[in-house]
Amino acid sequence: MPQLRSRRILVTSALPYANGHIHLGHLVEYIQTDIFVRFQKLRGHRAIYLCADDTHGTAIMIRARAEGRSEKDLIAGMREAHLADFAGFQIAFDHYGSTDSDANRQRCGEVWQSLRARGLVTSREVKQLYDPVAGVFLADRFVRGTCPKCNAADQYGDSCEQCGATYSPADLIHPTSTLSGARPEVRSAEHLFVTLETLHEFLNEWTQHSGALDLQIANYLSGHFLGAPLRDWDISRPAPYFGFEIPDAPGHFWYVWFDAPIGYLAATSEWCDAHGESFDAWWRRGDANVPPAEIHHFIGKDITYFHTLFWPAMLEVAGLSLPSRVRVHGFLTINGQKMSKSRGTFVLARSYLDHLDPGMLRYFYASKLSGSIDDIDLNLEEFAAKVNSDLVGKVVNLASRTARWLEATGLSHTYPEDGGLFAQAAVDGVAIAEAYEQGDFARAMRTVMLAADRANVYVDTEQPWKLAKAGPESAGKLQDVASVAINLFRQLAVYLSPVLPHFSEQVGALVGGQITSWEESQRPLEGVAIGVFQPLMRRVEAAQMEAMLAASLQQSCKPVKETASMLTPPESDATRVAHTPIDSGEALAAEPLAPECTIDDFSKIDLRVARIVCAEEVAEAKKLLKLTISLGGDTVRTVFAGIKGFHTPESLVGRLVVVVANLAPRQMKFGLSEGMVAAASGAGAQGVYLLSPDSGALPGMRLH
Ligand code: 2FM
Ligand code: ZN
Repeated sequence: MPQLRSRRILVTSALPYANGHIHLGHLVEYIQTDIFVRFQKLRGHRAIYLCADDTHGTAIMIRARAEGRSEKDLIAGMREAHLADFAGFQIAFDHYGSTDSDANRQRCGEVWQSLRARGLVTSREVKQLYDPVAGVFLADRFVRGTCPKCNAADQYGDSCEQCGATYSPADLIHPTSTLSGARPEVRSAEHLFVTLETLHEFLNEWTQHSGALDLQIANYLSGHFLGAPLRDWDISRPAPYFGFEIPDAPGHFWYVWFDAPIGYLAATSEWCDAHGESFDAWWRRGDANVPPAEIHHFIGKDITYFHTLFWPAMLEVAGLSLPSRVRVHGFLTINGQKMSKSRGTFVLARSYLDHLDPGMLRYFYASKLSGSIDDIDLNLEEFAAKVNSDLVGKVVNLASRTARWLEATGLSHTYPEDGGLFAQAAVDGVAIAEAYEQGDFARAMRTVMLAADRANVYVDTEQPWKLAKAGPESAGKLQDVASVAINLFRQLAVYLSPVLPHFSEQVGALVGGQITSWEESQRPLEGVAIGVFQPLMRRVEAAQMEAMLAASLQQSCKPVKETASMLTPPESDATRVAHTPIDSGEALAAEPLAPECTIDDFSKIDLRVARIVCAEEVAEAKKLLKLTISLGGDTVRTVFAGIKGFHTPESLVGRLVVVVANLAPRQMKFGLSEGMVAAASGAGAQGVYLLSPDSGALPGMRLH
């Protein structure tokens, strides 16, 4: 094998905002970046994985206010939570910084000076909505109002979900600040702008011809932006703003999207300082003798614009290296739909880790990621089937069927004849490595699983369990067969180790020591001792996924603390009453039947199955609980139900009920009630008894 030329590769993931926890959607990016970096390291290259928390901006400021704490305190707490979540998923940053750091302030100052020196900074007045109660200028998403195009109520400040129109928040009809409920005022403030148009030629060249972008992205940029003069980039925000004050423009702060990507530079400085390395060696353009470091940014498709226009423009002006590759991926859907709090599919990293093995998600994502911008779907049934079939059924099974025969003897001293299996899989290593390099992890995983299939056919054919029973004369053959199987198993573990680092450590502990190089896939082990086989991975059970969804549902419903099962509602009180022999007729006598109605009368009432996704006490109300019910999809209603005292909020979350779904909304003292939950009450038994459908019914089903 020729010695691989060692490359220097600086790799980043987009910096997660410090105003929220890491969820499964975020992990699509961090897992794939981590796989890429681990792969490069395994190949013997110098790769560093840098990231940081993205800490500045209005959202953090507002959240800190709402929680009655300082922004610094908020971001410190979130940093700890982020790091714990990443560690839980075996994401190994070489350095994890913060955009609220001295290093970042300094790097921002340097880039800013370069922009000033090129005469690219201008200033002008900007009209923006201002919340006079909260005392802040409002980012578009903090304004809601009626769409000026189609009159749909309660739309965002910049776009309408009903008709798709985009507009300026100042055009909204009846705008309201979501921060205080106040009517925003239009105020004028000075903003600083970067004249991007000056860099138009450069951006044309870089986006279309540098090879940093896939064709699809390059075409998107030329079609949407580069065909017309580039608009100036509004790069400052007036006080109050949580961020860095611009040194030569007091009262003005760099907009979060200016200092966020510079966080990549700051993280590099901090890592270099800690490791005695030179920042310039990573970010300055090389000369003929020192090839430049490669820079790979992994990002989601929603932030393409920032990373392929603004960011390269800033780097160019600052005289720094440009990204070698911007690797853009799509979003995550769960069970074919956007992650949804009311469906319990808005799953936090922590909730996943509480119930399932992180390696399994890493593998599943790898098996879906092809390096394209297509969204990937986490279908939970497919997840269980794939993990159980591939990892447990094909890979782990190879060792669980054969390792024990080698505990006493170790591997054969000469690698036995295997019909060319090891050599064939060694050759596959070229295609697998190429697929990893391209970010086509799905292809890499398919190739690995084909090799696993061949290895399993070998074990099925050789039947070591029969050899074991056959007595001492078959001992040599048994050792050979098991040695082949374990070598093929370890070879797979080398190929999978970027995806399954913990698993590959366990395999190393079983046989051959820690896996540290791709080259280990090319030579079988001989005469090596074998450890005692421990179960390496267990099958995923539906109950684990159900528990994760139930916990996520609970998580999005803060007032309720205890776990409730979302998928198997508890036996309802109503059912229990039906089982008790007290059918005395008292209730019917106390409340005689209503006058006859027709089927037409009945069909006017739209009764639906709904799931209670949140249940809260209403402090001031004696009888009411506030319920959030889901009719399926994103259709969620608030209902005030007179069941307090008969049901605790904890016992209701996750349970299916029947609601009158077309009842006219009623404004109550505590809020708007948008339906009625069906319940029985009356003489004969004290209480209010909610109706539950048979198991199998789903939210949204109509009662006929
Ligand atoms: O979209 C986001 O989540 C941003 N916090 C990403 C910033 S990436 C980089 F520019 F810092
Ligand atoms: Zn509209």
